[in-house]
Amino acid sequence: MSAAPGRFDGRVALVTGAGSGIGAACAARLAAEGACVGVLDVHAAGAKSVATTIRAKGGTATALTCDVSDEKQVAGAVGDLIASFGRLDVVHSNAAALGPGTYGRDQDLEDLDVAVWDRTMAVNLRGALLMVKHTAPAMADGGAFVLTSSVSGLLGDVAHVAYGTSKAALTGFVRYVATKYGSRGIRCNAVAPALVLTDVAAQALGRDRLADKAAERLLPWACTPEDVADLVAFLASGESRCITGQTIVIDSGTLAHRPEHALRQWRAAAESL
Ligand SMILES: NC(=O)c1ccc[n+]([C@@H]2O[C@H](COP(=O)([O-])OP(=O)(O)OC[C@H]3O[C@@H](n4cnc5c(N)ncnc54)[C@H](O)[C@@H]3O)[C@@H](O)[C@H]2O)c1
Repeated sequence: MSAAPGRFDGRVALVTGAGSGIGAACAARLAAEGACVGVLDVHAAGAKSVATTIRAKGGTATALTCDVSDEKQVAGAVGDLIASFGRLDVVHSNAAALGPGTYGRDQDLEDLDVAVWDRTMAVNLRGALLMVKHTAPAMADGGAFVLTSSVSGLLGDVAHVAYGTSKAALTGFVRYVATKYGSRGIRCNAVAPALVLTDVAAQALGRDRLADKAAERLLPWACTPEDVADLVAFLASGESRCITGQTIVIDSGTLAHRPEHALRQWRAAAESL
């Protein structure tokens, strides 16, 4: 999975939620390997800034402002991208509702405002559907869809039932997309990260929660956005030509074990300090 400059030469990629965090790293990575990239985000300033940074480094990128839950906006943004670059090979559907009004209010199941559930599903799930629906007809045969899921879609938790359920649904969705488009050589996979150390995540969690997360994983390091970009680029490239319909966990070993063992180890290490 090492960086191979030119892997996406002559290809066109669209990354949603690319105005910050993981999406920004993935857009930069695809561009660095030769793709012309559509940097799509609901926040125009974020999309413009990421596209400008890519161009400053010699890459090719255009900023697209679009709410992925809105079908007309999605159709318009996809049309604009294809008008600019003439083809489409890779779609990374990565945007998610993570703000204080959605993820922040997605706490207790019994107190959950249905508006929070609906908005979370609209962005995280309907957004993925709309991206596939409006890009697949124009996608080159042999292209690839990559979706960003989460380990929250593979585990239960006391909070974030809407977020986790939306991500769980993506596990099914990738199989449907893989099934429909397999005969065109178009693949569809999802990446499921545990904690990824974006600036926002590091600030939002604080020291204690970050220590809890460290205790949950086997490796001493958490994933960075660039680690996720490595996996996304692999799944978008011909190197993964026989992989489709899969949700690939990238979590530094968070889900690979029963938690008691790691917790004991970390407690012992903390006590010995
Ligand atoms: N950071 C983590 O620890 C982590 C872990 C697991 C999964 N994820 C997933 O990774 C993806 C990216 O998250 P991130 O951590 O980089 O967060 P982020 O907040 O930095 O990025 C999310 C981006 O999506 C955009 N967005 C939100 N709603 C949108 C909409 N309706 N239309 C278009 N764009 C919209 C935001 O403006 C933002 O730029 C998400 O799907 C998230 O669920 C993140």
